[in-house]
Amino acid sequence: MPDALKLDLSEKLYAKAVELIPGGSQTMSKRPQGYAPGAFPIYAERAKGCRVWDVDGNEYIDYLMALGPIVLGYCYPAVDHAIVEQLKKGVVYGLLHPLEVKAAQLITETVPCAEMVRFLKGGAETTTAAARIARAYTGRELILNCGYRGWADQWTAQQTTPNARGVPECLRNTVRSFPYNDLPALEAILRETADQVALVFLDPVSATEPDAGYLGGVRELCDRYGVLLAFDEIVTGFRLAPGGAQEAYGVTPDLACFAKGVANGMPLGVVCGTREIMQTAADLLISVTYGGECLSLAAVCACLEEYRKGRVHPHLWRQGEQLVHGFAESGRRHGVPFDCTGLAPMACPRFTHPNPEFNADAWSFFLQETAKRGVLIRRGGLLFVTFSHQDEDIEHTLSVVDESLALLADAVRSGNLKDRLHTKPIEESFRRF
Ligand SMILES: Cc1ncc(COP(=O)(O)O)c(C=O)c1O
Repeated sequence: MPDALKLDLSEKLYAKAVELIPGGSQTMSKRPQGYAPGAFPIYAERAKGCRVWDVDGNEYIDYLMALGPIVLGYCYPAVDHAIVEQLKKGVVYGLLHPLEVKAAQLITETVPCAEMVRFLKGGAETTTAAARIARAYTGRELILNCGYRGWADQWTAQQTTPNARGVPECLRNTVRSFPYNDLPALEAILRETADQVALVFLDPVSATEPDAGYLGGVRELCDRYGVLLAFDEIVTGFRLAPGGAQEAYGVTPDLACFAKGVANGMPLGVVCGTREIMQTAADLLISVTYGGECLSLAAVCACLEEYRKGRVHPHLWRQGEQLVHGFAESGRRHGVPFDCTGLAPMACPRFTHPNPEFNADAWSFFLQETAKRGVLIRRGGLLFVTFSHQDEDIEHTLSVVDESLALLADAVRSGNLKDRLHTKPIEESFRRF
């Protein structure tokens, strides 16, 4: 193993990128400053299964997985086959295409709340459509929201968003935030505002698991106060279970949004819900040129057919659980404050030292050492395991994590952690939790 990763081409490309692309990337969470700059790859060249190769020729077992969309693994044969076959027939048409009907049918058969479905592209577009449908259906404007819904104006205007430059001030009070896992706090807001509230919108689960009865309690409060409930299943959808968190927890919202994980990386957003509410969308201005783009629709059909065979989700849970246990065990063995929160298919590793500066350095060192040994993990993000992570990949990952934590423990004991960092300072521009 080399002393440091060779990343010359990545670094050179990124230097050019910042001259051409404001911020250097299209996705804030992919900016190299948020990983271990100087010791972590920046540009991918290709990927297959659970592996990715960077432009400098280094190979890694990947847990970034495009930040969530890849559930089956890169270049999954059944999905790629469906895409290639459709490509031969055309990508998008002026006419409608039968795949719209087939994909909608499969989703309504798979997702508990889905009686009708509309297709869009990104997550923000999808959550924005859900908001419009809820407002039109109820004739009310206020949305009570907990969590990240994407970059669109109304979500960025929410009181808790740190950087709302460029967003009209008048949107500020159209979305009000509420804390997760706190039913009394939600009820207090509903007591005060229910007659203005169109929708309660939340991620059913992210890095923090819902307390027992929390999601059912939210459902019950929404019913009692006569407001709609939407789940943002953009991360949980098709990852926790074929029917998402609503299936996993047995709580059915009125509306739900899916985007990542729907089509194994192809860009597709889904807003769905009960027939009565979704029917409102028939004459709303929710209209996108690429909603009926057929490569993504062919991909979603292939994915759903795979998910419905029943092998994918038990695999994600099993492999995720091995990672969660293995990470915590290595942390304990080496006396490093390190574990995972959240659910196994989307666990969230974290350093838990009371000193945030220690945690920041520990992350830089950990990413530097794991990347050097061929494993990509996201600083403070979710660990996305796929159907393509086989036992030997998990075993290798756990040995890399163990070795890296042993080195971290040694650096801490020797008092030279900062000297052993080959990274530039980090800049975390964006964090969802
Ligand atoms: C829960 C959740 N909702 C919405 C979004 C926005 O999705 P997109 O980036 O595709 O607009 C994200 C993206 O990370 C997300 O995680």
